[in-house]
Amino acid sequence: MSVSTHQRPRLTILGTGYLGATHAVSMAELGYEVLGVDVDEAKIAKLAAGEVPFHEPELDELLRKNLATGRLRFTTSYAEAAEFGDVHFICVGTPQKNGSKAADMTYVESAVSSLAPHLTHKSLVVGKSTVPVGTAEWVEQLLHKHAPDGTEVEVAWNPEFLREGFAVQDTLRPDRLVFGVKTDWAKEMLDYAYKGVFELAQSEDREVPVVVTDFATAELVKVSANSFLATKISFINAMAEVCEAAGADVTQLARAIGYDVRIGNKFLRAGVGFGGGCLPKDIRAFQARAEELGVGSALHFLSEVDIINTRRREHVVKLTAELVGGSLEGVRIAALGATFKPNSDDVRDSPALAVSRALHEAGATVNVYDPEGADNARRDLPEVNYAVSLGEVVRDADIVVVLTEWEEFRHADPTTLGELVKHQRVIDGRNCLDPITWRAAGWEYHGLGRP
Ligand code: UDX
Repeated sequence: MSVSTHQRPRLTILGTGYLGATHAVSMAELGYEVLGVDVDEAKIAKLAAGEVPFHEPELDELLRKNLATGRLRFTTSYAEAAEFGDVHFICVGTPQKNGSKAADMTYVESAVSSLAPHLTHKSLVVGKSTVPVGTAEWVEQLLHKHAPDGTEVEVAWNPEFLREGFAVQDTLRPDRLVFGVKTDWAKEMLDYAYKGVFELAQSEDREVPVVVTDFATAELVKVSANSFLATKISFINAMAEVCEAAGADVTQLARAIGYDVRIGNKFLRAGVGFGGGCLPKDIRAFQARAEELGVGSALHFLSEVDIINTRRREHVVKLTAELVGGSLEGVRIAALGATFKPNSDDVRDSPALAVSRALHEAGATVNVYDPEGADNARRDLPEVNYAVSLGEVVRDADIVVVLTEWEEFRHADPTTLGELVKHQRVIDGRNCLDPITWRAAGWEYHGLGRP
């Protein structure tokens, strides 16, 4: 196809998980014709019926709206995708490989080699998944190997920075775009594929900066951004450990250092640490890739970042035991939260669930309540009990442990909850409660990294 005749390229989104489904819906919302593709028939059937298979604010409504316009469709057919699309976005998962720190690239390989043989017209394959540096070159080779002779296809890398819980907003209004390209044509196609994003920004008097670069840099931007964020969290959690020993308050320390604009006040919330489908596996995959490149020592600090993060989970378990007199055997625990962060139902590598698991393994009776994540949590950790409300979970508890900072917990009334528990003891694993009001309501309050 020639760019001049297709200023609104047709987009396919390969992989309809958190990233792909959000990207598909958001691009349709911006006016593009979009086809979402996945090998999971059940997932595609749900999406086509207007049902988002996971919890993400705003997404349900926008999915149904855009299905109704006819701009957004879903399929399991790669042949249909190849026929339809001018720009194909790879949005499949790159989870951690079993028994290794490295990323599992099976889904990327499978998406590319399933699409390539069906390609009929010139198109651009754009990687959005988080991958080891060098993947874009490999995708290019795979495409040339599997595409029919004479079919023109190019590659670009365009990492995604969306945060769960804000995925739609982050996609419609990104703080920056990164285009890893080799040719002017690829750059121009990406400009057209994001024209809707630029126009929206313009209408709101904003600008979306674009960094145009090579493949390797684009790939590295994503893993280095996530490594920086993980390091920031582990830094403040390391400070929390020191504060605990010294009788200082890490929340005030974070506020004070955050006023320095060079440091900034974001991602300095000390607590039970980071989790989710990105940060933990990305810092591990990055280390594995650096080893392969012969620069493993440059990233040794990330292994320390990981260790500090895990130690915070262990600390919460130890603190719980200490507060109930040493042994967790038979202790009734109310665990508030299961997801790795609020406004999501994602429990992948969730610190909350890891703590509940450890408490259960130490002999405690663990009752978990999460506003959105119970179904996923139950699949991962069926051994504990799941309550359906905050009132139910805290009933007769010997200790309450807050593990995810849901609004519902932050705004809970400590007096009402105090009447339901057996002992008014709370560990605030996210430093999200107000110690003054909880103490005033008769609770023994313990924050992390706080006196
Ligand atoms: C992250 C990146 O932020 C995003 O840019 C990237 O595209 C994907 O990975 P996400 O996994 O959705 O996004 O979660 P994020 O908001 O970054 O939080 C990650 C974890 O860090 C959560 O468990 C959160 O609770 C924890 N966290 C975050 C802290 O413990 N302290 C903080 O100050 C911030």
